[in-house]
Amino acid sequence: MRLRPEIAALPPYRQGRPAPADGHKLSSNENPFEPLPSVVDAVAATAATINRYPDATALSLREKLAERFGASADEVIVGGGSVALLAAFIQAAAGPGDEVVYSWRSFEAYPGLVTVSGATSVQVPNRDDHGHDLDALADAITDRTRVVIVCSPNNPTGTIVTAAEFEAFMARVPADLLVLLDEAYVEFVFDETSVDGRGLVGRYPNLVILRTFSKAYGLAGLRVGYAVGPVPILDAARATIIPLSVTAASTAAALASLEPDAEEELLERVSAIADRRDRLRAALVEAGWPVPEAHGNFVWLPAGDRTDAVAEALWNAGVVARPFAGAGIRVSVGDEAANDVLIATLAPLAP
Ligand SMILES: Cc1ncc(COP(=O)(O)O)c(C=O)c1O
Repeated sequence: MRLRPEIAALPPYRQGRPAPADGHKLSSNENPFEPLPSVVDAVAATAATINRYPDATALSLREKLAERFGASADEVIVGGGSVALLAAFIQAAAGPGDEVVYSWRSFEAYPGLVTVSGATSVQVPNRDDHGHDLDALADAITDRTRVVIVCSPNNPTGTIVTAAEFEAFMARVPADLLVLLDEAYVEFVFDETSVDGRGLVGRYPNLVILRTFSKAYGLAGLRVGYAVGPVPILDAARATIIPLSVTAASTAAALASLEPDAEEELLERVSAIADRRDRLRAALVEAGWPVPEAHGNFVWLPAGDRTDAVAEALWNAGVVARPFAGAGIRVSVGDEAANDVLIATLAPLAP
């Protein structure tokens, strides 16, 4: 079979091992709370019309989101998860011979999305504190660069880019070079120095902000994310994205999650997860693990050569985490019981 060789060489997406029955699945940065009843009801109500295609552009959701960002509905695009939007933007801007610049280590989907577009990845090493090196990122931009991706909080290291760092970076980026600010975990950030895409909308002609309902809003299973940015860039993504991939159920769930009472409860859960995360990190740091500052719903264990052994110890304790061979392990924040197991298992294994 004649396939594109660079695609045939790509590892297919593989989900982590399923957790044992009484174990903890902490490998995909999911929200540990069950969905709100009001959200389940809103999804159920869409079942009666599944013989019809959904509203292709999720206008009602775009309008609601636009209001929050002080933008117009045309400056918002909704996709089947923000990963679908990342793919659409990369494809819209980069092709064979072009380069896409991003930090490494970062979201494990970036390399594959770039390869699929036909472009080449340029990976800029993170700083020693595991945060983005924005100066080095700007230095890596050449005439061939078509997209730069900034991820804050960064998956899997948990670090943030500060607002000051981001502004200094944008001042160095050519105004016709697309910058994607991936804020999949932004709701878990409580550090006031952090960059926040909401305040940046309308300020740069080349900046797109990506967010998702998968993490803070607990809708990972329904696939709904969105991006906010200038209309010409979003129109290009509207041309590359797979049409009709946002279902009526996912739109209804997102809208129900933005109802004031529902959102208040969801954001209380986010605070609880962030609190759990901070206690987990503090305990691991005290035990001797050099866990970087954690601003998402996960922590990063820089286990290096011991990654496989530590992941195996976690597995034996009933915890499925996400190991990155030779680098470290990303562990999502689960419930209180998971925190206890993590601390009991990892403390004796501190380097
Ligand atoms: C940094 C980052 N961006 C984007 C995504 C995509 O999320 P979704 O497609 O579920 O919206 C993820 C999911 O893990 C992520 O970690």
